[in-house]
Amino acid sequence: MSEILEGPHAIAEGVDRLESARLIAFPTETVYGLGANALDSDAVDAVFELKDRPPTNPLIVHVSSIEMAKTITKDWTAQAQLLAKAFWPGPLTLVLTKADSIPSNVTADGDTVAIRCPSHPVALALIEAFGHPIVGPSANPSGRISPTSPEHVADGFPDDDLLIIDGGHCRAGIESTVINLTADQPTILRPGIIGHHAIAEVLGCEINTAPAQDSTSPAASPGCIGPHYQPRTPTKLVDSNALAKADSSVVLIAWSVSEHPAAGQLIAIPDQLEHYAANLYRTLHEADTFAAVTIWIESPPTASTSEEHAIYEAVAERLSRATHL
Ligand code: TXA
Ligand code: MG
Repeated sequence: MSEILEGPHAIAEGVDRLESARLIAFPTETVYGLGANALDSDAVDAVFELKDRPPTNPLIVHVSSIEMAKTITKDWTAQAQLLAKAFWPGPLTLVLTKADSIPSNVTADGDTVAIRCPSHPVALALIEAFGHPIVGPSANPSGRISPTSPEHVADGFPDDDLLIIDGGHCRAGIESTVINLTADQPTILRPGIIGHHAIAEVLGCEINTAPAQDSTSPAASPGCIGPHYQPRTPTKLVDSNALAKADSSVVLIAWSVSEHPAAGQLIAIPDQLEHYAANLYRTLHEADTFAAVTIWIESPPTASTSEEHAIYEAVAERLSRATHL
């Protein structure tokens, strides 16, 4: 049975488990992570096994400081320093050249490592107390919706002996921006709340965005291929003007209407992009608990500021992979 615990006692118990190569789930500002000692290849193997994650999909390593980040890369570049100073702790993951201390299963045998310093105080306190970096893929079975609450984690792994450290509901609600700094030009591999524009402003150079990948092209970031983040119930993205066509077998996730047109289930999602993103996975998890035939989710509201454009792009990427209709 998974166990949800909170407070200093939970962090102390988490450190104990990390020290004995066991797994824990921990809160971050984006989504909950499945934590293990990043320097112990057996503990890392257990993460792949529990998630049923393909060994070809590398993990993000979480640190509590720039100093700790420097111990796991051979090349802490000037660009890494600028971005870490501007956005850490926060939802930005830097892909850099891996140091030998990182076991090869963390990076799927590649020579780069993805590093992030999360801003959630519980995550920072946990890594600091442990004193070593921890891997942290999202704490969901591979391919399913990422967890934004401790209960989502427990639902995903009901029968496992997993300590889930409670840090409440995740504020940002979608995964970090991943940027590769090892190529000639920085390249965004996964869009997130920290967008193109904000990063280009800090670096003072052009930023590439990796083209949408399919399973036939070699992957720059293997986790960004094909379906992902999916509810069990078939899910469709619909424009606001099509909501009225829903019959009672459809669970609606919507921001522009307050009633289901056929008296079925309606789950409200906020009409402001930042809050739409923060509630996206929560509403998908909730919709998936009804024995519905389909879920319809209303397209996000349009963006006006450059911050909102970044969020729109990140949300659109998640929705394109969460929907199967
Ligand atoms: O917000 C987040 O990033 C969350 C929280 C828990 O920190 N973590 C997360 O991890 O989303 P995960 O494993 O679900 O997604 C990591 C993504 C995958 O798409 C993976 O392929 C990519 O990062 N990735 C990891 N290491 C990489 C590397 N060395 N090069 C390129 N992509 C990498
Ligand atoms: Mg994930």
